Amino acid sequence: MSKTSAIIVGASSMLSKEIARQLSAQGVELALLAHDADTIREFATELPSAANVYQLSIEDPQQLIPQLEQVWQEMNEVRLVLVNTGLNSYHPDLPWTLEQEIIEVDVRGFAAICNTAFRLFREQGVGQIAAINSIAGLRGGPSVAFHAAKAFAQNYLEGLSMHAQRLKLPITITDIQLGLLDKAALQHSRIWLSPVDEVARQVVDALLKGKRRVYVTKRWRLVAWLTLLLPEYIYNTRHWKKKKAKEPTAIE
Ligand SMILES: NC(=O)c1ccc[n+]([C@@H]2O[C@H](COP(=O)([O-])OP(=O)(O)OC[C@H]3O[C@@H](n4cnc5c(N)ncnc54)[C@H](OP(=O)(O)O)[C@@H]3O)[C@@H](O)[C@H]2O)c1
Repeated sequence: MSKTSAIIVGASSMLSKEIARQLSAQGVELALLAHDADTIREFATELPSAANVYQLSIEDPQQLIPQLEQVWQEMNEVRLVLVNTGLNSYHPDLPWTLEQEIIEVDVRGFAAICNTAFRLFREQGVGQIAAINSIAGLRGGPSVAFHAAKAFAQNYLEGLSMHAQRLKLPITITDIQLGLLDKAALQHSRIWLSPVDEVARQVVDALLKGKRRVYVTKRWRLVAWLTLLLPEYIYNTRHWKKKKAKEPTAIE
C-alpha cells in the first residue's frame, strides 16, 4: 500500500491512532478526520508519512458530505476510506435522546460517509471502503440502538459490495467485525481481550489483503458463530439468572 493515500474517519480513538501509525509506517499518506480535530494535531505531526487533520461533523450529513469531498480533493489518489466512528451507551430506561444520538452517529452518519466514499470511488474507478464494525450487530442486545445500528452497518456494507460487483467496479468493501479490545490496557485477559497494537495489526492485514469480512481478533469468529447459532432462550442470558422471590402483594 506504499505511496498511496487513505482517509481515516473517526481518527481520535486509540484504535484509529494505532492503525494510522501502522499505515503511516508503510508510507501511506493520511487524512485524519476527527470530532475534535485539535486533539490529534500533535499526534499527526509525529507520524512518519504526511498526515493532515480535518474536522468531522458526523451528526450533520449536510456538513459531513462536503467535508469528505473537500478532503478528497486535497489528497492524491485515495485508495482507502476507513470508517471508525461509533457511539455506544447503555441506560436501562432507554431514553430516546440517547437512542437518537446513537442512531445519528452509527446509522445516519455511517451511511452518509459510506455513501459518499462509494460515489467518489465510483467516479475514480477503484478503491476500498472499510469499517470497524462489531459482532454486537449479529444479534439484538441490551444496548438496543447500538446492536441494531451495527446490524445496519453490516447490511449496508454487504449491499455496497454487491452493488460494486453489479457495476463491475474494483471497489473492495471490508467489514471488520471487532470483538472486544483492551482499550485502556487495564484488563489483561489474554483469552478475550487483545492489546490495541495486535488488533490494529490484524485490521491492517485484512485491509491489505482486501478481505470482504474479517473477525478481529481471529478468535472472535468462534463467538460470532455461536452467537448466530444459539436459540434465543439460551442467547438471552437473562433467562439464566435466578428470578427474585416475588414481593408479597396486598391481597396475600
Ligand atoms: N471498544 C471495543 O471494545 C469495541 C468492540 C466492538 C466494536 N467496536 C467498534 O469499533 C469502533 C471504534 O471503537 P473504539 O473503541 O475505537 O471507539 P471509540 O474510542 O469510542 O471511538 C469512536 C470514534 O467515533 C468518534 N465519535 C463518536 N461520536 C462522535 C460524534 N458525535 N461525532 C464525531 N465523532 C464521533 C469518536 O470521536 P471522539 O473521541 O472525538 O468523540 C472516536 O473517534 C466503533 O464502531 C465500535 O462500535 C469497539
